[in-house]
Amino acid sequence: MIFDTHCHLNDEALYHRIDEVMENAKKVGVNKFLVVGWDKESSLLAIDIAHQYPECYAAIGFHPCNIEGVSEEDFLDVMSHLDDPKVVALGEIGLDYHWVQDPILKEHQKEWFIKQIKYANLHQKPISIHNREAFADCLNILKENRPLYSGVMHCYSGSVELLKDVLDLGLYIGLDGPVTFTNAKTPKEVAQDVPLDKLVVETDSPYLSPHPLRGTVNEPKNIALIIDEIARVRQQSKKHIIDALYKNSCRLFGIENEENHQ
Ligand code: NI
Repeated sequence: MIFDTHCHLNDEALYHRIDEVMENAKKVGVNKFLVVGWDKESSLLAIDIAHQYPECYAAIGFHPCNIEGVSEEDFLDVMSHLDDPKVVALGEIGLDYHWVQDPILKEHQKEWFIKQIKYANLHQKPISIHNREAFADCLNILKENRPLYSGVMHCYSGSVELLKDVLDLGLYIGLDGPVTFTNAKTPKEVAQDVPLDKLVVETDSPYLSPHPLRGTVNEPKNIALIIDEIARVRQQSKKHIIDALYKNSCRLFGIENEENHQ
């Protein structure tokens, strides 16, 4: 059993054929999906999908690139769903400095990140963290505003050295397609060094297709390629990895692990 802990089935690229996408994933053993929102519409759609499909859960929140112009009313509307039992995380939230140079916009991202961590803590939810080219600020915010119900560094892009800082905050490490890229040295080192009980896998589909599918529309079924590569670099059996990742994901998101009943 495999849990894709970060996918955007609510993205138009996948949503228009969601049944087929989920069937494809089930064929390779994916039986749980965390559908992650990035703004109001995508968050509300993630909740709809989670209600419609028992295998799906929702993460809701405002991505740092989607905060400009959001009204307080829309923000509160999304947050009002945090106690929905199928909403298991707040995300994706964080900092993205890739396209942003303006210090005022950076401050704005920080405010939104902090504000959303507070809501997660208030509603006892873990967070899914998006961090792009903002590692130092991201870590400082997390240290000063600790996520009390854990969370995941989605698509972890940091070094092996920084792993400890993230793990000290009680967070999990999410690995995605980049771990399979032939020229990706750091993600492979991270996959090798991260404690297995702190690792989860994600596709971030429709983005970040793993090797050799780079450039195509990604789907949760491709998570198999990510797991293969993790098993290879760790020199552990696929079964061992899959079992551990599934347990971690259920623990992180407070979802019952039906394997315990067997
Ligand atoms: Ni994402």
